[in-house]
Amino acid sequence: MKILAIETSCDETAIALLECTGGLEAPKFKILKDAVASQIKIHQPFGGVVPNLAKREHLKNLPILYKKLGLTESVMKGVDLIAVTSGPGLEPALWTGINFAKDLAKQFKKPLVGANHLEGHLYSFLLAEKKGVSYSVANVKNIFPAIGLIVSGGHTTLMLLKNLKTRKKLGETRDDAVGEAFDKVARILGLPYPGGPEIEKLARKGKPNAIAFPRPMVYEKNYDFSYSGLKTSVLYYLRDNPKTEKADIATSFQEAALDVLIRKTLRAAREFGAESIVLSGGVASNKPLRQKLNRETKKTGLRFLVAEFKHNTDNAVMIAVAAYINFLKKKKYPLVANGAMNIQ
Ligand code: KG4
Ligand code: ZN
Repeated sequence: MKILAIETSCDETAIALLECTGGLEAPKFKILKDAVASQIKIHQPFGGVVPNLAKREHLKNLPILYKKLGLTESVMKGVDLIAVTSGPGLEPALWTGINFAKDLAKQFKKPLVGANHLEGHLYSFLLAEKKGVSYSVANVKNIFPAIGLIVSGGHTTLMLLKNLKTRKKLGETRDDAVGEAFDKVARILGLPYPGGPEIEKLARKGKPNAIAFPRPMVYEKNYDFSYSGLKTSVLYYLRDNPKTEKADIATSFQEAALDVLIRKTLRAAREFGAESIVLSGGVASNKPLRQKLNRETKKTGLRFLVAEFKHNTDNAVMIAVAAYINFLKKKKYPLVANGAMNIQ
Protein backbone atom coordinates (compact mmCIF):
# COMPACT_ATOMS: atom_id res chain seq x y z
CA MET A 1 0.00 0.00 0.00
CA LYS A 2 1.10 3.57 -0.63
CA ILE A 3 1.19 5.90 2.38
CA LEU A 4 1.65 9.68 2.13
CA ALA A 5 2.96 11.05 5.42
CA ILE A 6 3.18 14.60 6.72
CA GLU A 7 5.24 15.76 9.70
CA THR A 8 5.16 19.26 11.24
CA SER A 9 5.54 18.62 14.98
CA CYS A 10 8.55 20.86 15.61
CA ASP A 11 10.97 22.73 13.35
CA GLU A 12 11.11 20.44 10.30
CA THR A 13 8.43 20.40 7.63
CA ALA A 14 8.44 16.99 5.97
CA ILE A 15 6.44 15.03 3.41
CA ALA A 16 7.13 11.49 2.20
CA LEU A 17 5.45 8.86 0.05
CA LEU A 18 6.27 5.23 0.78
CA GLU A 19 5.28 1.92 -0.69
CA CYS A 20 4.79 -0.40 2.27
CA THR A 21 4.54 -4.18 1.89
CA GLY A 22 5.18 -7.41 3.81
CA GLY A 23 2.83 -6.96 6.78
CA LEU A 24 3.86 -7.32 10.42
CA GLU A 25 5.94 -10.43 9.71
CA ALA A 26 8.35 -8.87 7.21
CA PRO A 27 7.66 -5.17 6.64
CA LYS A 28 9.39 -3.62 3.66
CA PHE A 29 9.52 0.03 2.66
CA LYS A 30 10.32 1.72 -0.61
CA ILE A 31 10.71 5.49 -0.42
CA LEU A 32 9.06 6.97 -3.50
CA LYS A 33 9.20 10.63 -2.46
CA ASP A 34 10.85 12.34 0.48
CA ALA A 35 11.57 15.95 1.38
CA VAL A 36 12.42 17.84 4.56
CA ALA A 37 12.60 21.63 4.97
CA SER A 38 14.56 22.60 8.06
CA GLN A 39 13.77 25.80 9.97
CA ILE A 40 16.92 25.73 12.10
CA LYS A 41 18.30 28.99 10.66
CA ILE A 42 15.05 30.82 11.48
CA HIS A 43 14.95 29.74 15.14
CA GLN A 44 18.70 30.00 15.76
CA PRO A 45 18.73 33.70 16.72
CA PHE A 46 16.20 32.88 19.48
CA GLY A 47 18.23 29.97 20.90
CA GLY A 48 15.30 27.55 20.52
CA VAL A 49 12.13 26.86 18.55
CA VAL A 50 9.54 29.69 18.60
CA PRO A 51 6.10 28.01 18.15
CA ASN A 52 4.44 30.78 16.13
CA LEU A 53 7.43 31.15 13.81
CA ALA A 54 7.38 27.37 13.33
CA LYS A 55 3.69 27.54 12.41
CA ARG A 56 4.32 30.34 9.90
CA GLU A 57 7.17 28.41 8.27
CA HIS A 58 5.19 25.15 8.05
CA LEU A 59 2.31 27.03 6.39
CA LYS A 60 4.76 28.44 3.87
CA ASN A 61 6.76 25.24 3.31
CA LEU A 62 4.03 22.60 3.05
CA PRO A 63 2.75 23.69 -0.39
CA ILE A 64 6.34 24.26 -1.58
CA LEU A 65 7.41 20.73 -0.62
CA TYR A 66 4.22 19.25 -2.01
CA LYS A 67 4.89 20.89 -5.35
CA LYS A 68 8.61 20.08 -5.32
CA LEU A 69 7.85 16.38 -4.79
CA GLY A 70 5.68 16.30 -7.91
CA LEU A 71 2.61 15.01 -6.09
CA THR A 72 0.42 15.41 -9.16
CA GLU A 73 -3.19 14.34 -9.39
CA SER A 74 -2.19 11.02 -10.93
CA VAL A 75 0.37 10.33 -8.16
CA MET A 76 -2.23 11.22 -5.53
CA LYS A 77 -4.75 8.89 -7.13
CA GLY A 78 -2.43 5.98 -6.30
CA VAL A 79 -2.20 6.87 -2.59
CA ASP A 80 -4.03 4.45 -0.26
CA LEU A 81 -3.69 6.28 3.05
CA ILE A 82 -2.64 9.73 4.28
CA ALA A 83 -1.02 9.94 7.74
CA VAL A 84 -0.16 13.07 9.67
CA THR A 85 1.65 13.54 12.98
CA SER A 86 -0.94 14.60 15.58
CA GLY A 87 1.43 14.63 18.57
CA PRO A 88 3.55 15.08 20.57
CA GLY A 89 4.98 18.44 19.58
CA LEU A 90 4.08 22.12 19.37
CA GLU A 91 0.33 22.37 18.89
CA PRO A 92 0.31 25.38 16.50
CA ALA A 93 2.87 23.49 14.38
CA LEU A 94 0.96 20.18 14.54
CA TRP A 95 -2.27 21.88 13.40
CA THR A 96 -0.65 23.14 10.18
CA GLY A 97 0.13 19.57 9.15
CA ILE A 98 -3.26 18.24 10.25
CA ASN A 99 -5.17 20.92 8.33
CA PHE A 100 -3.02 20.47 5.23
CA ALA A 101 -3.59 16.71 5.37
CA LYS A 102 -7.33 17.18 5.87
CA ASP A 103 -7.51 19.34 2.74
CA LEU A 104 -5.63 16.72 0.71
CA ALA A 105 -7.79 13.88 2.04
CA LYS A 106 -10.92 15.78 1.09
CA GLN A 107 -9.66 16.80 -2.34
CA PHE A 108 -8.54 13.29 -3.32
CA LYS A 109 -11.10 11.37 -1.22
CA LYS A 110 -8.47 9.42 0.72
CA PRO A 111 -8.59 7.94 4.21
CA LEU A 112 -6.67 10.03 6.75
CA VAL A 113 -5.22 9.01 10.12
CA GLY A 114 -3.24 10.69 12.87
CA ALA A 115 0.22 9.38 13.76
CA ASN A 116 2.31 9.39 16.94
CA HIS A 117 5.70 11.06 16.38
CA LEU A 118 7.33 8.85 19.04
CA GLU A 119 6.14 5.69 17.28
CA GLY A 120 7.72 7.16 14.16
CA HIS A 121 11.05 7.35 15.96
CA LEU A 122 10.65 3.96 17.65
CA TYR A 123 9.87 2.05 14.43
CA SER A 124 12.56 3.83 12.40
CA PHE A 125 14.78 0.79 13.12
CA LEU A 126 12.80 -0.89 10.34
CA LEU A 127 14.77 1.42 8.03
CA ALA A 128 18.14 0.31 9.45
CA GLU A 129 18.98 -2.06 6.60
CA LYS A 130 18.64 -1.43 2.88
CA LYS A 131 18.46 -4.08 0.21
CA GLY A 132 18.48 -2.72 -3.32
CA VAL A 133 15.90 0.04 -3.38
CA SER A 134 13.91 -1.11 -0.33
CA TYR A 135 14.44 -0.96 3.40
CA SER A 136 13.76 -4.24 5.17
CA VAL A 137 15.41 -5.71 8.22
CA ALA A 138 16.78 -9.20 7.65
CA ASN A 139 15.16 -11.88 9.85
CA VAL A 140 12.73 -9.52 11.48
CA LYS A 141 11.66 -12.30 13.86
CA ASN A 142 15.15 -12.59 15.33
CA ILE A 143 14.97 -9.00 16.59
CA PHE A 144 12.44 -9.69 19.34
CA PRO A 145 12.24 -9.24 22.19
CA ALA A 146 13.95 -5.91 21.60
CA ILE A 147 14.79 -2.98 23.83
CA GLY A 148 13.94 0.32 22.15
CA LEU A 149 15.66 3.48 23.30
CA ILE A 150 14.05 6.70 22.04
CA VAL A 151 16.21 9.78 22.60
CA SER A 152 14.96 13.09 21.24
CA GLY A 153 14.60 16.74 22.16
CA GLY A 154 11.42 16.05 24.11
CA HIS A 155 11.70 12.40 25.19
CA THR A 156 14.02 9.81 26.71
CA THR A 157 12.08 6.56 26.77
CA LEU A 158 12.95 2.90 27.13
CA MET A 159 10.54 0.40 25.55
CA LEU A 160 10.27 -3.37 25.54
CA LEU A 161 9.10 -4.61 22.14
CA LYS A 162 7.76 -8.17 22.29
CA ASN A 163 7.10 -7.98 18.55
CA LEU A 164 5.70 -5.34 16.18
CA LYS A 165 2.27 -5.68 17.79
CA THR A 166 2.95 -5.75 21.50
CA ARG A 167 5.16 -3.48 23.57
CA LYS A 168 5.53 -2.03 27.05
CA LYS A 169 7.07 1.15 28.35
CA LEU A 170 9.85 0.39 30.82
CA GLY A 171 10.74 3.93 31.80
CA GLU A 172 11.18 7.53 30.74
CA THR A 173 12.71 10.77 31.89
CA ARG A 174 11.27 12.38 35.00
CA ASP A 175 12.36 15.87 33.98
CA ASP A 176 14.45 17.01 30.99
CA ALA A 177 14.95 14.83 27.94
CA VAL A 178 18.53 13.97 27.00
CA GLY A 179 18.35 16.09 23.80
CA GLU A 180 17.05 18.98 25.88
CA ALA A 181 20.06 18.58 28.21
CA PHE A 182 22.41 18.72 25.19
CA ASP A 183 20.61 21.89 24.02
CA LYS A 184 20.71 23.54 27.46
CA VAL A 185 24.36 22.68 28.12
CA ALA A 186 25.20 24.03 24.66
CA ARG A 187 23.52 27.30 25.59
CA ILE A 188 25.51 27.43 28.86
CA LEU A 189 28.68 26.99 26.78
CA GLY A 190 27.60 29.70 24.34
CA LEU A 191 27.00 27.33 21.43
CA PRO A 192 24.14 27.81 18.93
CA TYR A 193 20.84 25.89 18.71
CA PRO A 194 20.39 22.96 18.23
CA GLY A 195 23.05 22.13 20.76
CA GLY A 196 23.37 18.36 20.30
CA PRO A 197 25.51 18.38 17.16
CA GLU A 198 27.55 21.34 18.51
CA ILE A 199 28.36 19.53 21.78
CA GLU A 200 29.31 16.41 19.81
CA LYS A 201 31.68 18.44 17.65
CA LEU A 202 33.30 20.29 20.58
CA ALA A 203 33.52 17.07 22.64
CA ARG A 204 35.91 15.61 20.04
CA LYS A 205 38.54 18.13 21.22
CA GLY A 206 38.15 17.58 24.98
CA LYS A 207 40.08 15.32 27.35
CA PRO A 208 38.15 12.18 28.29
CA ASN A 209 37.02 12.00 31.93
CA ALA A 210 38.33 15.51 32.65
CA ILE A 211 35.41 16.27 34.97
CA ALA A 212 33.42 13.66 36.92
CA PHE A 213 29.87 14.87 36.29
CA PRO A 214 27.10 12.88 38.02
CA ARG A 215 25.33 9.93 36.35
CA PRO A 216 21.79 10.60 37.58
CA MET A 217 19.72 7.52 38.50
CA VAL A 218 22.24 5.13 37.01
CA TYR A 219 22.15 2.73 39.98
CA GLU A 220 18.41 2.99 40.63
CA LYS A 221 16.58 -0.22 39.94
CA ASN A 222 14.15 1.28 37.48
CA TYR A 223 14.34 2.40 33.87
CA ASP A 224 13.62 6.07 34.42
CA PHE A 225 16.03 8.88 33.64
CA SER A 226 16.70 12.39 34.91
CA TYR A 227 18.77 14.99 33.11
CA SER A 228 17.99 18.29 34.77
CA GLY A 229 20.50 17.74 37.63
CA LEU A 230 23.30 16.96 35.19
CA LYS A 231 22.64 20.21 33.36
CA THR A 232 22.69 22.12 36.67
CA SER A 233 26.01 20.44 37.61
CA VAL A 234 27.52 21.76 34.39
CA LEU A 235 26.18 25.25 35.13
CA TYR A 236 27.66 25.28 38.68
CA TYR A 237 30.95 23.74 37.55
CA LEU A 238 31.47 26.47 34.99
CA ARG A 239 30.48 29.16 37.51
CA ASP A 240 33.02 27.85 40.04
CA ASN A 241 35.73 27.02 37.48
CA PRO A 242 35.36 29.68 34.79
CA LYS A 243 38.77 28.96 33.28
CA THR A 244 37.97 25.34 32.40
CA GLU A 245 38.36 24.42 28.71
CA LYS A 246 34.86 24.32 27.24
CA ALA A 247 35.82 21.27 25.19
CA ASP A 248 36.59 19.36 28.42
CA ILE A 249 33.15 20.28 29.75
CA ALA A 250 31.50 19.14 26.50
CA THR A 251 33.36 15.80 26.54
CA SER A 252 32.68 15.13 30.21
CA PHE A 253 29.00 16.11 29.93
CA GLN A 254 28.52 13.91 26.86
CA GLU A 255 30.23 10.97 28.57
CA ALA A 256 27.99 11.30 31.63
CA ALA A 257 24.80 11.71 29.58
CA LEU A 258 25.54 8.74 27.31
CA ASP A 259 26.85 6.54 30.11
CA VAL A 260 23.46 6.49 31.85
CA LEU A 261 21.62 5.76 28.60
CA ILE A 262 23.94 2.90 27.67
CA ARG A 263 24.07 1.27 31.10
CA LYS A 264 20.32 1.33 31.63
CA THR A 265 19.60 0.08 28.11
CA LEU A 266 22.03 -2.83 28.51
CA ARG A 267 20.59 -3.67 31.92
CA ALA A 268 17.08 -3.77 30.44
CA ALA A 269 18.36 -6.00 27.63
CA ARG A 270 19.77 -8.45 30.20
CA GLU A 271 16.71 -8.41 32.41
CA PHE A 272 14.26 -9.04 29.59
CA GLY A 273 16.43 -11.44 27.61
CA ALA A 274 16.45 -9.17 24.58
CA GLU A 275 17.74 -10.31 21.19
CA SER A 276 18.45 -6.76 20.10
CA ILE A 277 18.66 -3.08 20.93
CA VAL A 278 17.03 -0.54 18.63
CA LEU A 279 17.97 3.12 18.92
CA SER A 280 16.08 6.15 17.58
CA GLY A 281 15.39 9.89 17.84
CA GLY A 282 17.42 13.02 17.12
CA VAL A 283 20.10 12.16 19.70
CA ALA A 284 20.60 8.83 17.88
CA SER A 285 22.56 10.84 15.32
CA ASN A 286 25.24 11.26 17.99
CA LYS A 287 28.19 9.16 16.74
CA PRO A 288 29.70 8.27 20.15
CA LEU A 289 26.26 7.01 21.28
CA ARG A 290 25.85 4.87 18.16
CA GLN A 291 29.41 3.55 18.38
CA LYS A 292 29.31 2.75 22.09
CA LEU A 293 25.92 1.04 21.96
CA ASN A 294 26.99 -0.87 18.86
CA ARG A 295 30.18 -2.05 20.54
CA GLU A 296 28.49 -3.01 23.80
CA THR A 297 25.57 -4.86 22.20
CA LYS A 298 27.87 -6.80 19.88
CA LYS A 299 30.02 -7.79 22.89
CA THR A 300 26.98 -9.41 24.43
CA GLY A 301 26.00 -11.09 21.15
CA LEU A 302 22.93 -8.91 20.62
CA ARG A 303 21.84 -7.23 17.45
CA PHE A 304 22.00 -3.43 17.24
CA LEU A 305 19.74 -1.58 14.83
CA VAL A 306 19.63 2.13 14.11
CA ALA A 307 18.48 3.95 10.98
CA GLU A 308 20.79 6.31 9.11
CA PHE A 309 21.11 9.90 10.41
CA LYS A 310 18.44 11.46 8.19
CA HIS A 311 15.82 9.02 9.49
CA ASN A 312 16.62 9.80 13.12
CA THR A 313 16.21 13.55 13.07
CA ASP A 314 12.60 14.54 12.34
CA ASN A 315 11.30 13.30 8.97
CA ALA A 316 8.10 12.04 7.36
CA VAL A 317 9.47 8.66 6.23
CA MET A 318 9.34 7.37 9.82
CA ILE A 319 5.76 8.66 10.13
CA ALA A 320 4.74 6.56 7.13
CA VAL A 321 6.46 3.53 8.70
CA ALA A 322 4.55 4.02 11.99
CA ALA A 323 1.31 4.57 10.06
CA TYR A 324 1.83 1.26 8.23
CA ILE A 325 2.41 -0.63 11.51
CA ASN A 326 -0.70 0.98 13.02
CA PHE A 327 -2.76 0.27 9.91
CA LEU A 328 -1.85 -3.42 10.28
CA LYS A 329 -2.68 -3.27 14.00
CA LYS A 330 -5.91 -1.37 13.25
CA LYS A 331 -4.80 1.43 15.59
CA LYS A 332 -5.84 5.00 14.76
CA TYR A 333 -4.89 8.28 16.38
CA PRO A 334 -7.43 11.13 16.35
CA LEU A 335 -6.91 14.07 14.00
CA VAL A 336 -6.54 16.56 16.80
CA ALA A 337 -3.21 18.12 17.78
CA ASN A 338 -2.09 16.68 21.11
CA GLY A 339 1.13 18.34 22.20
CA ALA A 340 1.53 16.08 25.24
CA MET A 341 0.83 12.77 23.46
CA ASN A 342 3.07 10.00 24.82
CA ILE A 343 3.89 6.43 23.87
CA GLN A 344 2.64 3.42 25.80
O1 KG4 B 1 14.01 13.82 17.20
P1 KG4 B 1 14.41 15.23 17.05
O2 KG4 B 1 14.95 15.68 15.73
O3 KG4 B 1 13.24 16.16 17.46
C1 KG4 B 1 12.38 15.82 18.51
O4 KG4 B 1 11.49 14.97 18.29
O5 KG4 B 1 12.64 16.34 19.62
O6 KG4 B 1 15.50 15.50 18.19
C2 KG4 B 1 16.07 16.77 18.34
C3 KG4 B 1 17.09 16.69 19.46
C4 KG4 B 1 17.67 18.03 19.83
O7 KG4 B 1 17.66 18.17 21.24
C5 KG4 B 1 19.10 17.98 19.30
O8 KG4 B 1 20.02 18.76 20.01
C6 KG4 B 1 19.39 16.50 19.45
O9 KG4 B 1 18.20 15.86 19.05
N1 KG4 B 1 20.50 16.06 18.58
C7 KG4 B 1 21.67 15.59 19.05
C8 KG4 B 1 22.50 15.35 17.91
N2 KG4 B 1 21.79 15.69 16.80
C9 KG4 B 1 20.57 16.12 17.23
N3 KG4 B 1 22.09 15.35 20.30
C10 KG4 B 1 23.35 14.87 20.46
N4 KG4 B 1 24.20 14.64 19.43
C11 KG4 B 1 23.82 14.87 18.16
N5 KG4 B 1 24.64 14.64 17.14
ZN1 ZN C 1 11.52 13.81 16.82
